[in-house]
Amino acid sequence: ISYNSARFLLSAPTIMQCPTDSGSEVAFAGRSNAGKSSAINTITNNSKLARTSKTPGRTQLINFFTLNVPGCRLVDLPGYGYAKVSKEVKTEWQEHMDEYLHARQSLKGLVLVMDIRKPLSDFDTMMLEWAEASKLPISILLTKADKLRPGAAKNMLAKIKSDLKDVEYLASVVLFSSLKKSGVENARTQLDNWLME
Ligand code: GTP
Ligand code: MG
Repeated sequence: ISYNSARFLLSAPTIMQCPTDSGSEVAFAGRSNAGKSSAINTITNNSKLARTSKTPGRTQLINFFTLNVPGCRLVDLPGYGYAKVSKEVKTEWQEHMDEYLHARQSLKGLVLVMDIRKPLSDFDTMMLEWAEASKLPISILLTKADKLRPGAAKNMLAKIKSDLKDVEYLASVVLFSSLKKSGVENARTQLDNWLME
């Protein structure tokens, strides 16, 4: 797949408005501000594809991007843990997300994006549990790896792998940096495996 050819398809406020559930897609999930949209832009080599922001809560809709292989899509999910949204909105979001993960036939894998400095939040753990319950393979991107010294980043990688060694369906854990554009080939290989199977 040539990720550089990704194009914006549509934004869905709820899973009801998602594109027809056929083909293959991979969704990017994670806490607000973890770097999901930036990771999509880095993987697709297009800094203008998904909107990013210093302010958490930038992505509030489910955004779909098409790839050059017909029926293949990337999905940018709203972040979790954005303090300013109300409790009702949070509960609604959880329901939507749970529904999306369970119901979506075309969803072949989940990329869980975690800021390497704040890994395994309660939300991340919940995502891992949902994925396991839905038998959905997960790949973890430890983003903002550029914020740590290389040795510290490697230690964190090893720690996460060891903490999650019993998680079924964990496909890979990789160091990633949108700033330095590192880990990109590993991430693309994982996406290829899921989208082309
Ligand atoms: P929401 O849409 O709010 O859930 O956030 P998001 O997970 O999509 O995060 P986004 O990609 O918008 O990035 C949040 C902030 O982190 C932005 O200021 C980015 O420039 C910064 N950022 C993202 N990835 C990296 C990275 O790898 N390294 C560094 N240094 N900064 C990053
Ligand atoms: Mg975003």
